[in-house]
Amino acid sequence: MPELATRKARRGDELLVRIESFDARGRGVGTAGDASVRVRHAVPGETVRARVLRRRRNEIDGVVLERVAPSPLAVAPRCEHFGSCGGCSFQDLAYAAQLAGKRRLVESAFARLADAVVEPVLPAPRTFGYRNKMEFAFGSRRWIHASEPAGAPSGFALGLHAASLFHKVIDVRGCAIQSPAADRILAAAREIAIDLGLAPWDVYAHTGLLRYLVVRVAATTGEILVALVTSADAPEAVERFARALLARDLGITTLVHGVNPRPADTAIAERERVLFGPGWIREELAGVVFALSSSSFFQTNTLAAEELVALVRAEAALSGREIVLDLYCGTGMLALSLARSAREVVGFEISAAAVADARGNAERNGIGNARFHLGDVIDGIAAMPAGARPDVLLLDPPRAGLHPALFASLFALAATRSVYVSCNPVAAARDVERFLAAGWRLDRVRPIDLFPHTPHVECVIALSRDG
Ligand SMILES: C[S@@+](CC[C@H](N)C(=O)[O-])C[C@H]1O[C@@H](n2cnc3c(N)ncnc32)[C@H](O)[C@@H]1O
Repeated sequence: MPELATRKARRGDELLVRIESFDARGRGVGTAGDASVRVRHAVPGETVRARVLRRRRNEIDGVVLERVAPSPLAVAPRCEHFGSCGGCSFQDLAYAAQLAGKRRLVESAFARLADAVVEPVLPAPRTFGYRNKMEFAFGSRRWIHASEPAGAPSGFALGLHAASLFHKVIDVRGCAIQSPAADRILAAAREIAIDLGLAPWDVYAHTGLLRYLVVRVAATTGEILVALVTSADAPEAVERFARALLARDLGITTLVHGVNPRPADTAIAERERVLFGPGWIREELAGVVFALSSSSFFQTNTLAAEELVALVRAEAALSGREIVLDLYCGTGMLALSLARSAREVVGFEISAAAVADARGNAERNGIGNARFHLGDVIDGIAAMPAGARPDVLLLDPPRAGLHPALFASLFALAATRSVYVSCNPVAAARDVERFLAAGWRLDRVRPIDLFPHTPHVECVIALSRDG
């Protein structure tokens, strides 16, 4: 190993790094001299020999060459595809250590805010089999594992994109974070597609019929939606596929066919038709039944989302008399779950499809005190009638956080309690600083784990001010 004492490590050097934590992208983090080293596929507690890939000031990206000392926090991954698949980062790290690492991520994001107390991360009720939706890609370039014999067939795969080579698809034989029912559907779809000789999509040539298989299994009702996304209508081929899949008796309650003829690699269809069943499934959350189509937004971990709603409910502390605004309300998960405890809830959302889902869900559940505004939240809040006096604000913005143009009209509202739900602690901490500067108090930061084995962490942040 090169002598590093006299100069800073640079590209190509080898380093011995003890991994202390992980970053928001799931890379192991350690130090070398005055630099922070980020190493993919390295977990806290282990010591690795790493090669420096690049250095930017005091940030080094490295790659593992050798695992020198194993981590006492390491566990055996459950999934045979772990490591090559881009889905999970940490099936090889004990769950308690995952939670501790996620808390550190939130703590470091909030470190510059005096008095911010970050509570321990609320664990997910289930650490495996928790996802209610998966999008599997068909591909004509199968990812080949190093252990496979030369010449292994590689022209068909149905699964997930490889972590390091996006154009390759791992032929997923089982995914430990989805339900066993979804595994069975995946296996059947693969067999049927091969039997019928249907060609998978080629990401470079833009040829092949089969593009995506979306599988949605409702955790609470067990209803199952499958969407087959193809590059063309091809009704005959699609119907043969559909008949064969339904004949397997896999519990599918609705089957839809979507067409995405565009080159962009996405499961979002340009047009869709229902081949079997109603075209949607029901999922229950916090006493509200949500109808989910293939494209409806819904939290992918139903049981953990129920706990998220419980945290929001506790912080909103509703008595039944409050007017609640739900900004960035999506399909109304928070607004509808809390509506029965409030006088009125008003949601603001820019996606027309999400607003249509939210209104439909309100109607189906007989919730008459929830309204949803379609449009940019900035315009929606600015246009609030002068007499409107909301009591509680629910904020669940996209990863980038609240739009800077929103704060002035937000702070002009009469509300004295805000519950901010965030999937990005760095953006949330920056936004909370704006609240503090405007005279609000930060009461609590309560992280919750919705996505075990990934670095993602959600936070429920309680803010208040005097009336
Ligand atoms: C994190 S999701 C919130 C999900 C929602 N709480 C739910 O569970 O259904 C953020 C939402 O903000 C919406 N959004 C993004 N920018 C917006 C804007 N400028 N105005 C209104 N809504 C916006 C997105 O369409 C998305 O539905």
